[in-house]
Amino acid sequence: MPQGNKVMRLRSLIAGGLAAATLCVAPIASAQEEHVKPARQDWSFYGPFGKYDQAQLQRGFQVFREVCSNCHSLKSIAFRDLIAPGGPAFSEAQIKALAATYKIKDGPNEAGEMYERPGVLSDYFPWNFPNAQAARAALNAVPPDLSVIAKARGYERGFPLFLIDPIIQYQEQGPDYIYALLTGYTHADDPFWDEFMPGHKIAMPMPLSDGAVDYTDGSPKTVKQYAKDVTAFLMWAAEPKLEERKRLGFRVLSFLAVFAVLLYFVKRKIWASVHSDAGAEH
Ligand code: HEC
Repeated sequence: MPQGNKVMRLRSLIAGGLAAATLCVAPIASAQEEHVKPARQDWSFYGPFGKYDQAQLQRGFQVFREVCSNCHSLKSIAFRDLIAPGGPAFSEAQIKALAATYKIKDGPNEAGEMYERPGVLSDYFPWNFPNAQAARAALNAVPPDLSVIAKARGYERGFPLFLIDPIIQYQEQGPDYIYALLTGYTHADDPFWDEFMPGHKIAMPMPLSDGAVDYTDGSPKTVKQYAKDVTAFLMWAAEPKLEERKRLGFRVLSFLAVFAVLLYFVKRKIWASVHSDAGAEH
């Protein structure tokens, strides 16, 4: 029975392949279990209809400005970006006044000297440190620029979640990680201990504490709320056009769905005549 043999061989091949795959995946999975994995959070920007929450982005910017910007840069964001619709969308007057409180290095002037002037809307967010060496000297490590950190960080979801994630359109590993990192300082006696860093050591001392940022919209002044808001803000900084992308994606998929239905009827029409012709001959 050559046919039966072939089927048998195929079956054992598949079984062997599956066993090998399980063997490969198992050690990876158990190695990862040693790390605590960030938990999934509820984000307003999750899913095909996800949107940024303007009030949350405004609070997140407040946390960034009052806390994180003491150490981190945000090079890709200009003051005027904070006015644009779809983002924190502050008023122009608010951001003009804010920009003017920063001293921006400019020049050289006609005498060939660099000088400082108040910031304007077209300036990019300035860094508190003159250069990376100065930051390292002060902090023992260079704080990474936060412009795209929400997209640059993430974590392995492991089998089988990495197969399910594309179906449920889960793409928030970056924000989940940052939220976990900011809320992972659970050893009160050690400000450099973080649950989500390899070896639990981080050069960033616990940046947030309850009550540190004074919200004016009645939102809770807790580490969790600050972490959530600043993470949403960093997600916006990394992907300001997220809403547009999702809207376009939905339109393309709707078009494809309608097109598929039309194609089905066209196919039926074409093949209907072929069938009846063939029937007529026999
Ligand atoms: C006192 C300075 C300081 C402050 C304030 C600070 N950070 Fe940091 N941050 C650092 C340093 C230094 C590192 C590099 C840590 C390392 O390499 O171990 C870092 C690293 C990070 C990382 C990267 C972690 C990784 O996976 O490598 C993120 C994300 C981050 N900070 C976010 C924030 C946010 C958000 C805030 C504001 C709530 C903030 N930081 C406030 C100094 C700071």
